[in-house]
Amino acid sequence: MEQIIMYPGEVSKDAVDWKATQGQHITAVVRNILVLGSGGREHALAWKLAQGEGAKVFIAPGNAGTAEVGTNVNLKVSDFEGIKQFCLANGITLVVVGPEQPLVDGIVDFFKQDEQLRTIRIIGPDSKGAQLEGSKAFAKEFMARNGIPTARCLTVNKDSLEQGVEFLKSLKAPYVLKADGLAAGKGVLILDSLEEAVTELNNMLGGKFGSASATVVIEEFLKGIECSVFVLTDSEHYVLLPEAKDYKRIGDGDTGLNTGGMGAVSPVPFCTPDFLQKVEGRIVKPTLQGLKADHVDYKGFIFLGLMNCGGDPYVIEYNVRMGDPETEAVMTRIEGDFADLLYACADGCLDKVHYAKSAKTAVTVMLVSGGYPEAYQKGKVMTGMNLLKDCVAFHAGTAFNAEGQVVTAGGRVIAVTAHGDSILEAREKAYINVEKIKFEGENHRHDIGFDLLQ
Ligand code: AMP
Ligand code: GLY
Repeated sequence: MEQIIMYPGEVSKDAVDWKATQGQHITAVVRNILVLGSGGREHALAWKLAQGEGAKVFIAPGNAGTAEVGTNVNLKVSDFEGIKQFCLANGITLVVVGPEQPLVDGIVDFFKQDEQLRTIRIIGPDSKGAQLEGSKAFAKEFMARNGIPTARCLTVNKDSLEQGVEFLKSLKAPYVLKADGLAAGKGVLILDSLEEAVTELNNMLGGKFGSASATVVIEEFLKGIECSVFVLTDSEHYVLLPEAKDYKRIGDGDTGLNTGGMGAVSPVPFCTPDFLQKVEGRIVKPTLQGLKADHVDYKGFIFLGLMNCGGDPYVIEYNVRMGDPETEAVMTRIEGDFADLLYACADGCLDKVHYAKSAKTAVTVMLVSGGYPEAYQKGKVMTGMNLLKDCVAFHAGTAFNAEGQVVTAGGRVIAVTAHGDSILEAREKAYINVEKIKFEGENHRHDIGFDLLQ
């Protein structure tokens, strides 16, 4: 019997194409999905999407781990024309953009404005929406305009340096200085003395982070505990994905330099239903209304970097993508076909899809190269991955060498995620597996989730 399985939000185009090539023997819709990026976040997204019905996942450029769940494509995320040709040649119906740079650079606008690409769904905001991450000054002004709780601030440039110094004097230590533009996660400085803050303000405006710090946001320091809340929106509707806590510093006990993220826990015990209700009412809804008022058509992820200050949420930052390594914990807690959610998101009918989270706790530990986040070596042969049990290992920076062995290819190398009925249980399972993976110079934190044990 002929059977066409349609998913919520699925346009019949795929089914028709399939029908044309396969006669009447239709059993399922094929979903060709392209994930852009090459880190642990993209491996986790591709891993989850590949489990969906009819999914065929491509990753550009991907890494040694994504090659296990899909097909790597040798294209840079900045090569919009190459991505276009690949999508057209391979019947791609959904593009999921992992990192922020192509969004800020307008990949969604590129798809929407191109006659041949217009019907291909793409997850992410246009370049205007991506300004929420691309410009801290824009994000602060957006929050002020929409009554969204955030730290008090002043935006300055070379011409308003004096006002900046006066504003710093009005604040109490520590002082927070943020480069306006994207600075590879390094553009935020937290200074203990007014003197240092004034010096660094001068340095930043003088080009410390290139053009990214020609404008600087000076912010009041917020005391509290941080968490990451992820919203998936189609502009009209939204779902809250599992929240997570990230561990940013390189050393145990939150010591040492800042990194891209050394581990994650999801769910976060202090993100109670009451706290999340405040997040929705005070932050998510006004953010979506604000985007609408600004005529931003936003179909994608909004990552809220929040500070919980005595039970009240404040926005530290917006990101227009998923977090890394949070995604490596979050994806393992989403139940069902994640592609259903993303297709519905792109088609504007997120309200029609059932979505559930696992009650399990996920703990993710990131293994990094010796020296990271400063200089480190690449190309170290990795072993022990075949010994892993009861966990998932998401590759963050790996590649194959000429002999086909998996080798390190970045600062953050591989993220091990395990589940448990408690943080304690998930931590134990994760760390048993972390100890099995070996490569020269390997380093990781030993205390992921430790602060959250009750
Ligand atoms: P951002 O890139 O804006 O997330 O900032 C990087 C990190 O700096 C955050 O994850 C916080 O740990 C810290 N941070 C940023 N802004 C503030 C603030 N206003 N108060 C306290 N800590 C902050
Ligand atoms: N883990 C923080 C980020 O992805 O920006």
